[in-house]
Amino acid sequence: AQSPVNISLNPGEAKHVINKHIYGHFAEHLGRSIYDGFYVGEKSSIPNTNGIRTDVVDALKKLKVANLRWPGGCFADTYHWKDGIGPKDKRPTIVNTWWGGVTENNSFGTHDFLNMCELLGTEPYLAGNMATGTPQELIDWVQYVNFSGESPMSKLRRENGREKPWNVKFWGVGNEAWGCGGNMTPEYYANEFRKYSTFMTGWSNDNNVFRIASGANSADYNWTEVIMKNVPGNLIEGMALHHYSVIDWGKKGPSTAFTEDQYFTTMQRALQMEELVTRHSAIMDKYDPKKKVALVVDEWGGWYEVEPGTNPGFLYQQNTIRDAMIAGVTLNIFHNHADRVRMANLAQAVNVLQSVVLTKDAQMILTPTYHVMEMYNVHQDATLIPLKIENVNEYTLGDRKLPAVSASSSRDKNGVVHISLVNIDAGKGRDIVLDLKGLKASAVTGRILASKKVQDYNSFEKPDLIKPAAFKDAKIKNGKLELKLPAASVVVLALK
Ligand code: AHR
Repeated sequence: AQSPVNISLNPGEAKHVINKHIYGHFAEHLGRSIYDGFYVGEKSSIPNTNGIRTDVVDALKKLKVANLRWPGGCFADTYHWKDGIGPKDKRPTIVNTWWGGVTENNSFGTHDFLNMCELLGTEPYLAGNMATGTPQELIDWVQYVNFSGESPMSKLRRENGREKPWNVKFWGVGNEAWGCGGNMTPEYYANEFRKYSTFMTGWSNDNNVFRIASGANSADYNWTEVIMKNVPGNLIEGMALHHYSVIDWGKKGPSTAFTEDQYFTTMQRALQMEELVTRHSAIMDKYDPKKKVALVVDEWGGWYEVEPGTNPGFLYQQNTIRDAMIAGVTLNIFHNHADRVRMANLAQAVNVLQSVVLTKDAQMILTPTYHVMEMYNVHQDATLIPLKIENVNEYTLGDRKLPAVSASSSRDKNGVVHISLVNIDAGKGRDIVLDLKGLKASAVTGRILASKKVQDYNSFEKPDLIKPAAFKDAKIKNGKLELKLPAASVVVLALK
C-alpha cells in the first residue's frame, strides 16, 4: 500500500487574497453560445427576460460568476460595436468568418450584453477590436458605456434608452494578436497597445479602467517578455495568457469516449498551467517587481473534437469528470499563485468548449465543471493559506507519471477555512494526512464530486448523474485532518 500524501498548511504565511475575478467566464459569438445559449430573443417561448434565458441566468447566479468576457475571442477583432446598438430591425448583419461562416443579425449587442451582466450580478469584460478597428472606435465604445457627462457617445447611449453609464472596468485590447487577432509580432503589438491604451482613460467617474494586453499562447515566453519590456506600467493593468488543455491540435480526441491514455495527456496539459503561470510571472516580476500588473488567464479549459453531427465551427462538446479534474487542478494552481494571477476566464460558459451549462431547446443541464466551480466559489476573495504537499503520490500510466493530488486552501471573511483537494488518478484512491499546523478547528464538513468512470457526464436524458454529494469521511485527529480521496474526485472541505 502507498503511504499517505502529506499536506501541511502554513497559516502564518497567509497574506494574499484569492481575487474573485479568477472565477470569470467567457461568452463569444461562437456557435450556440450567445444565440440559442444565453439569448433566445424576446419572442421565444423559452422563459426569458429581454430575450435572456431565465434558466441560464439562475444557474450562473448560483455560480457567482465574477466577470464575463465578450464578444470574443477571435470574433472580437472582427466586431464593430456600433452595428449592435439601436433598433434591432435596423442593425446590419455580420458574417462570423471565424466560427462556421454564419450570418448574424447583431440582435445581441452592447445593451443586451451589459444589461445581461446586471441580471447576472457579474462584471462585464469587453474585448475591444484592435485588428480591424481603430483607436477611435474603441475610445468611442469606452465613452458610450462609461461616460456620464454630455458627449456625442453618451448622447447616443441615451437615445438608445440607457441614461446611466454601466461603468465597465475590464477592457481587452485585441485578442490573440499573435494569431487570429492580426498575426502581429510582439514588438508591433506592444506599440499598437501603447497607442490604444493611451486614449482609454478619462471616461469614467472613478477612472478605473483596467486595460488587458493580448497575451501569450501557452509557453510563448518571448511574447510576455516583449510586451512587459515595452509597455510602461501606467498604460497596462493586465497581461493575458491563453492555455487550452488540448491533446494535439490535429487530433484532439472525443469529449466523452476517450481512452485512459488520452485522459492522462489531457491532465498533463492541464497541470502544465503550473509551469506556465510560474514562468510568465517570473518574467513579469523582472519588469513589474511590485506586481501591479495582473496575470489574466482569460482563456483556459479542455478542447476536444465537437460532438458528432454538430457543426465543426461551433465547438460544441460534452463535459465529463475529466473536465471536472481540469477545473479542480487549474483553480488550485490559480489560487496558489494569487499574488500574480488575479483574473481568469474559463472558455466558455454556455454550449462552447468546457462549458458550465449546456442547452438543447428548452432544456438546460449543469456540467461537472459547473459543480466544481460552484463548490470552489467559497474561495472567492478569501485569504490564501499556502500549503506544501509532500509524498504527493504518482498517477502512473506505463512509464508516464503525474502528481496525483492537488490542493489549495483559504480562510474566508467569517474565519472558515476551506480546503479543495483533487485526485486525478482514474483508478486509485489516495489517503491524505493534512497537518493543520496549529490552526484551531474542531469540526469538518465537506462535499465531493465523483463518478464511476472519468468518461461519465450529465446528458439531457440523465442530467443529474454527476452532482455534488456530502463528504463525511474526513476526521480531525490531534491537529491533523485525515481522509481518503476516491479515484478521480474533487473534494471541498470546510473547517470550523
Ligand atoms: O475560445 C475559442 C477561441 O480560442 C477563441 O475565439 C480564441 O481566442 C482562441 O483561439
